[in-house]
Amino acid sequence: MKNTENQMLVIFGASGDLTARKLVPALYNLYESGHLPKNFVVLGASRSDLSDEDFRKKVVLESKYLTDKIKDKNRDGIQKFAEMFFYEDLGKDYDVDYTPLRKRVGDLNDEKGTEGNIMYYLSTPPTLYETIAKNLADAGLSTQNNGWKRLIVEKPFGYSLETAKALNKGLQQHFSESQIYRIDHYLGKETVQNLLVTRFANSIFEPLWNRNYIDHIEITNAESVGVEKRGGYYDKSGALRDMFQNHLLQIVSLIVMEPPIGDGAEEIRNEKVKALKSLRVMKDEKTLHDHTIRAQYMASEINGEKVKGYREEEGVDPESTTETYAAIKFFVDNWRWKDVPFYVRTAKRMPTKVTEVVIHFKTPHHQIFKESGIHSKDNKLIIRIQPDEGILIKFGVKVPGQGFKVERANLDFYYSSLVETRVMEAYERLLLDAMQGDATLYARADEVEAAWEFVDPILDYWQKGKDVRMYGYPSGTWGPTNADDLIEGIGFWRNPGENLTDDENYCVLC
Ligand code: BG6
Repeated sequence: MKNTENQMLVIFGASGDLTARKLVPALYNLYESGHLPKNFVVLGASRSDLSDEDFRKKVVLESKYLTDKIKDKNRDGIQKFAEMFFYEDLGKDYDVDYTPLRKRVGDLNDEKGTEGNIMYYLSTPPTLYETIAKNLADAGLSTQNNGWKRLIVEKPFGYSLETAKALNKGLQQHFSESQIYRIDHYLGKETVQNLLVTRFANSIFEPLWNRNYIDHIEITNAESVGVEKRGGYYDKSGALRDMFQNHLLQIVSLIVMEPPIGDGAEEIRNEKVKALKSLRVMKDEKTLHDHTIRAQYMASEINGEKVKGYREEEGVDPESTTETYAAIKFFVDNWRWKDVPFYVRTAKRMPTKVTEVVIHFKTPHHQIFKESGIHSKDNKLIIRIQPDEGILIKFGVKVPGQGFKVERANLDFYYSSLVETRVMEAYERLLLDAMQGDATLYARADEVEAAWEFVDPILDYWQKGKDVRMYGYPSGTWGPTNADDLIEGIGFWRNPGENLTDDENYCVLC
């Protein structure tokens, strides 16, 4: 186990939902598994008027997000965990003098022995990131003379290339790049990290991982929920900004990248940036028109229950043109991937929640068993990110009997079969990494900018281009049918089921 130094975690926006829903349960898991350092303090900072005791009750003792985890646990242990939490009211605004905060941090540091090491977690609206970073620096709270200081920022990181660059520049005035940790919770998922291992720890896949053997690549990210209570945020964001620019392009970069020199953070991140920079940016209207599809979910009935259409959701403009479905086809301009199309789609209100990567291999160059019709079925490697996490290989086998009739068979691996291993939750893993100063699973400034460079022209085109369509799809379906037209040759997406080995076209509609 790597060493985790004594430290303090200061959470800005601590009275918000993310702290109670994600961060504290992740910290609790780290506490239970003995990963927290000996001296550890969590200082919540936000604009609500709370005492230490109120804060402990809110995020630990009476938190509905912890109930299941702590219900059979020893009360002393839980009390000890709760006692790590403190709260500082910043007053009416985040843009204030942080001298009182510095005093509180200093006192807690002296009392609890956190050795001047501080991790700031910005769980606030992004418009406040720069303000908070500046006020911390002005109060002398970013200097590393007396212990390290790290700054974790949540997504969305920018709204466009220009705003992302401005934000990077703004933060870098007060914290150096090596102090900044941009979180993307998909990188905290074991199955996303396993993309690296699948590729680079096996000699059976990597030799085939190129244009000579791969026909095309398909990535699906589907959610069955709608925008829930986040209509206000989502309507200004949309599927491309909310999921594609960050989570999905992170997955793409791990599939596209060249082998890194080693497993160091910079070595891996250098290759990811190179991969993102090699995505062919779509510049002309024809390509943008032919290679992108956007759509919105419409009212429908799922399992006998009526669900609202996107435009009827709370916080959403009734004439909104924000997409809840995005499907993009693109190419990668480098030696390895020349002419291999990538198809990536993400959407809300689909038949099921699933994220998977499908590598479609080319049909054999010389087909001996033509009669069997096998040439119309490709070999597939399916990497299931969630749920039913695992890997599935589809390959041909001989059907017993005379002649050579070939059918597809499945070879599967499930994470759940690794009974001995407890899989860390995404936030748990990412927090622990940042606590240990490991930035491998955090996005670097140039990585974020490279992703925006690819996404910006699509957003621009959708906003101002000619002949841009917004399709509708009934909630609970796989999106607009014309999305199949994107996939040349084959003409349809693999619509995955709830389970890894569900047959194609299976979908949970009722
Ligand atoms: C978030 C998006 O980043 O990821 C949400 O803002 C989305 O809209 C969520 O629902 C999906 O995450 P996961 O881990 O449930 O796939």
